[in-house]
Amino acid sequence: MNEHKIPVIIDCDPGIDDSFAIYFALNSSMLDVISIVSVAGNVPLSMTTSNACNLLGLVNSNVPVFAGSDGPLIGDAIEAKYAHGVNGLGGYVFKKEYTNNLQQGNGIEHMARILKSSEQPITIFAIGPLTNIAKLVLAYPDLVGKIDQVVVMGGGVIKGNYSSSAEFNIVADPLAAKVVFDAGLTCKIVPLDTTEYCYFDKEFLQALNQSSSLKAKTLYDIVNAKHNIESKEEDSKFYFHDMVTVMAVTNPQLFEFTPLHVDVELDGKITKGQTVFDQRSFNRQEPNSLLVTTKLREEIVAVASEVLTNE
Ligand code: RIB
Ligand code: CA
Repeated sequence: MNEHKIPVIIDCDPGIDDSFAIYFALNSSMLDVISIVSVAGNVPLSMTTSNACNLLGLVNSNVPVFAGSDGPLIGDAIEAKYAHGVNGLGGYVFKKEYTNNLQQGNGIEHMARILKSSEQPITIFAIGPLTNIAKLVLAYPDLVGKIDQVVVMGGGVIKGNYSSSAEFNIVADPLAAKVVFDAGLTCKIVPLDTTEYCYFDKEFLQALNQSSSLKAKTLYDIVNAKHNIESKEEDSKFYFHDMVTVMAVTNPQLFEFTPLHVDVELDGKITKGQTVFDQRSFNRQEPNSLLVTTKLREEIVAVASEVLTNE
């Protein structure tokens, strides 16, 4: 581990925007990516795991991949193929299958081993359903103190995306989200309100494609497989929720962090998976999270472009 960098684990469900987050994290001079742990989410676990391995293998990364949970703590798995295509990467197919990064063993036990052995507290990026993180804190409560922060892409203050009230990562496993939010962790939550405000455009994507970076060009090809970029209107917007979430750690000066209490609706007929942030002017509940917001979209886009095109 490089003590001058922030040691991180990326728990993810690649996923088009997870791909941006992974490549951004690998390129960032601020982060030491220790491991990637996959979770069922956008597509089934087998696909999120192989997508992670292919993304890493393509760029000769030696970051290990461990498979995590294949479904929520309780209930049935949901998917987001509508947003990420049938294979999770918009239908993009790698020229070959890369399998060297895949490690045997359970992702949750692997995270526990890292926490036990690390001299530095670990940052966990949770950019898929929170099942793995919930299992980690439930099975290893004595290790919660070794987690510096969990940085979650999830939830929404005013709306959802999977439903009118629920964002995908949360509604995919609402109980897991509630367990994580109530675990006494430092939990930074980057909601849809923030990640949709921080939209990216065609110009940003074209700059990726025109760069000499294999990572950047691959990200362009993945988005292009799903969206046929050149056919889109010039003012089209593209959302890379998970990469914005990583940037809340690499570029905190571009964000604001507001202590708030967040709860998760577990049973609502039309509100299951909704995140409810207590913003009352009185009687507020004790904060259990930091809501991450920003007003600096252009700066965030510029940093993302610089980091992704810088091989
Ligand atoms: O709602 C957006 C989130 O759900 C992102 O993490 C995306 O990858 C999907 O997992
Ligand atoms: Ca994701």
